[in-house]
Amino acid sequence: MLRAFIAICLALTLGSAVASAQSIPAPSTWKNQRGSEMTIKSVDPANVFTGEFVNNAPDFECRGTPGFDVKGSLINGRLVFAVVWKNATRNCNSITAWRGRLQGNTMNTTWILVYADRNGRVQTRTGRDTFQRAD
Ligand code: BTN
Repeated sequence: MLRAFIAICLALTLGSAVASAQSIPAPSTWKNQRGSEMTIKSVDPANVFTGEFVNNAPDFECRGTPGFDVKGSLINGRLVFAVVWKNATRNCNSITAWRGRLQGNTMNTTWILVYADRNGRVQTRTGRDTFQRAD
């Protein structure tokens, strides 16, 4: 009897944990404090998402040019996504990877940008971005 009770409690607890795991909506648009916008266009059953990133951050390259692909995943509220800064018209010889958490309409992330400087040397920059759902 006690075992059955514990089993039912465990099943209910695990069930509600799975049910409460947030998935990322598609389509949805997210804007960060630098004015950049990420539009998520598709999410597959494994929570891998794809979309487009427009960089509007001052003090960076490849600004205001639409069409940079973003790809990432959300597992148990933890996000990772990346942009290779190369599209049909621009190549900034760089890549950014973000990681963080999705909590409601907010993504709190840290990022690393890896780029080639004028001499072709590999450099890195790091920082934080907070994205709010805009649409
Ligand atoms: C580059 O400068 O080489 C490409 C653009 C990088 C933009 C970075 S990615 C992290 C930070 N957050 C943004 O929204 N833009 C900058």
